[in-house]
Amino acid sequence: MAPRAPTSSCDRRAPSGPKRVISGPAGPAVPDGRRLRLAPSLLSADFADLAGAIREAEKAGADAFHLDVMDGHFVPNLSFGPALVSAVRARTRLPLDLHLMIEEPLRYVEAFHRAGGDTLVFHLESRSPPDEVLKAVRRLGGAVGIAIKPETPFASVEPFADRVDQILVMSVHPGFSGQSFLPEALPKLRAARARLDGLGQGADVSIDGGVTAATASEAAAAGATFFVCGNSVFGGGPVSANLVALRSAVEDGARRAVR
Ligand code: DX5
Ligand code: ZN
Repeated sequence: MAPRAPTSSCDRRAPSGPKRVISGPAGPAVPDGRRLRLAPSLLSADFADLAGAIREAEKAGADAFHLDVMDGHFVPNLSFGPALVSAVRARTRLPLDLHLMIEEPLRYVEAFHRAGGDTLVFHLESRSPPDEVLKAVRRLGGAVGIAIKPETPFASVEPFADRVDQILVMSVHPGFSGQSFLPEALPKLRAARARLDGLGQGADVSIDGGVTAATASEAAAAGATFFVCGNSVFGGGPVSANLVALRSAVEDGARRAVR
């Protein structure tokens, strides 16, 4: 079930629901030495002090920043556009991973690329033809990813696997931070990992939504290599300790996957 509509455009967190228990066997073996990257999601940071949040996360060893762009149509929430991306770009050298939760990514990829987005991740369920978005981002010289919602099977994105730098599996319904991880994402991570390993192009499998130390470890065991973390980084406690806990959880999960 999708989360309720926000009460205002500033409502970034979803109402809290029941906690889900994550269980199940670890995924297929993954090669040693794979890069595991943590990408704090700025949606959960203090918008009045984004520069401070960026500084803190960068100092604590973040590998990239994840920026959630929402248009109020594709998802029932609004966030920000290219101007904010460009302001963030000016504050960090880390890669910017843009998650475009918008109806018409094709119309905006150029603006977001110019604003400084390194990877443009658009939704397969958007209204733009995936082939055209892929071509447009490539023409601009950017990296590109495709995201799928919890309802979308891996098989739908599989035909594009050889043309992407990232497949993003959503483990919550897009639109809000602070939701609980949906374990239905795990088999999709395994399928994405197997397919991308088969292609051997080094593309990332990204997991987004409800990523905590516990769920990050499960996701890493299932083959995820890129971990989007909102509330688990900025939602409470020191950012540095939060990132240390997440790092050790993903390394532990990846070790379980290679056994
Ligand atoms: C949700 C966004 C996520 C969100 C994650 O639509 O795509 O990136 O910021 O937040 P957490 O980690 O709190 O679920
Ligand atoms: Zn996101």
